[in-house]
Amino acid sequence: MRKNEKNFKIIRSPLALQRLSKKILAQGKSIGLVPTMGALHKGHISLVKKSAKSNDVTIVSVFVNPVQFGANEDFAKYPRRLQTDAKLCAESGADIIFAPSSKDMYPAPLQTYVRSAIENMYCGAYRPGHFTGVLSVVAKLFNIALPSNAYFGEKDFQQLHVIRKMAYDLNFPVKVIGAKTIREKSGLAMSSRNEYMSCEERVAASSIYAGMQEAKKMYKQGVNSVAKLKKIISEKIEEAGGKIQYIEMANKNDLVPVKTKISKAAVILLACYFGKTRLIDCDFLYYPR
Ligand code: PAF
Repeated sequence: MRKNEKNFKIIRSPLALQRLSKKILAQGKSIGLVPTMGALHKGHISLVKKSAKSNDVTIVSVFVNPVQFGANEDFAKYPRRLQTDAKLCAESGADIIFAPSSKDMYPAPLQTYVRSAIENMYCGAYRPGHFTGVLSVVAKLFNIALPSNAYFGEKDFQQLHVIRKMAYDLNFPVKVIGAKTIREKSGLAMSSRNEYMSCEERVAASSIYAGMQEAKKMYKQGVNSVAKLKKIISEKIEEAGGKIQYIEMANKNDLVPVKTKISKAAVILLACYFGKTRLIDCDFLYYPR
């Protein structure tokens, strides 16, 4: 048993966690927060380990946030397995799981939300209200857990960007840290939603990474036309039976869309379907190449 497995706590009440966090900070200790919706996989665990390395106390929040799901999305079927998650967290160096109920987090309907100016772009164009739901819950989590550092995966790069901007624009005293996407051997990005797919769909979905790798290779060889790079990726995905929702290129730093030619560090952002499962992914085109 690791040192902190013995003292590992599951806390449900926002007020109880906020009180505990205040005590921890008063002792001069740092808090790392890893916000999640549970069904933890190796990607989440890498964030927990990163936090445990650099903070005195690591809190993992597990909350399937109803406010960020659209009416026809997968809120009801989103996998929930708190006991397994708790065990994984304790083994990986976390100290506390914060697992509130919806009633704990939203005792009354919100009248106050945090909105991003790019909430209707990229993924947001297809998930109206999603990023408002994400930012509003993350703002609450920051105020409840009082972290010095908060950890998010790069796979959802738009999410990472809007959260980082929120912390900067609204002066949250939190450093938002992005971590590399963890992939299966096939290249498929780890996601709690991968388990919705059949084995065949999972194999086919590795074409997302393959497509991005091919585009990166062509970019390195001198192709900087956005249209050409997008075509390379969409062809790979469609050949494997995937359905593209969108593929866009944006400046890495501010997520301003790049329409014609890559001329500074850029990010490929995409969403597509394999069967009924919506997957997102991203990769980077560095500059100079
Ligand atoms: O990425 C997620 O799991 C969620 O969007 C987050 C950041 C935990 C907010 O609910």
